Amino acid sequence: MLTARVAVVVSGGGTNLQALIDAQAKGELKSGRIALVIADRAGIGAIDRAGKTGIDCAVIVRKEPDFEKKVLSALEAHKIDMVVLAGFLGIFSAELLRGFGKPMINIHPSLIPSFCGKGFYGLRVHQAALDYGVKVTGATVHYVNEVPDGGKIILQKAVGILPGDTPEILQRRVMEQAEWVLLPQAAEIVAAQLVREKESNK
Ligand code: GAR
Repeated sequence: MLTARVAVVVSGGGTNLQALIDAQAKGELKSGRIALVIADRAGIGAIDRAGKTGIDCAVIVRKEPDFEKKVLSALEAHKIDMVVLAGFLGIFSAELLRGFGKPMINIHPSLIPSFCGKGFYGLRVHQAALDYGVKVTGATVHYVNEVPDGGKIILQKAVGILPGDTPEILQRRVMEQAEWVLLPQAAEIVAAQLVREKESNK
């Protein structure tokens, strides 16, 4: 069967990458095959997770010149059909998105349009939700466009906030109850659509 070739872009520990790897092993992510991991800095946990599974991993340092050019070349060299941002803490330019020209999706740890956009990433998102005093937060998977966290929503799941939550405790609950479930599901939805398109073009 045809599958979509997936690149996963990461900046951290890679627990969302792991959820994708596990979903692939269980056959829940079946229309897409993780063909490449791009890590935006050296020494992060996500690189070990890719290595253990034998997935090609390119370390392309975000703070070095020509970062986006190098990312585009890696995507082209690996014939990537779709990109999953799984804890990528940078923002790709409109130029890169146009250059790639294929679907890119992102996981964000809040219910968009709350606590999202430039400056909202990682623990800061959970800190902002706690500071505001909302009683429900969650995670969102959406298409990436030129507006940070502004693309069409694919899946969203709510998670309750409990008394005594710290950003760290809340982050873990949002990951367990929402992110690790939603991201593989959304990746499968987008990959299945690409496979249908590839089949109808045969
Ligand atoms: C995840 O909570 C992800 O939603 C968030 O960073 C964390 C990465 O964890 N992403 C953003 O905040 C993007 N704006 P991981 O490396 O263990 O997957």
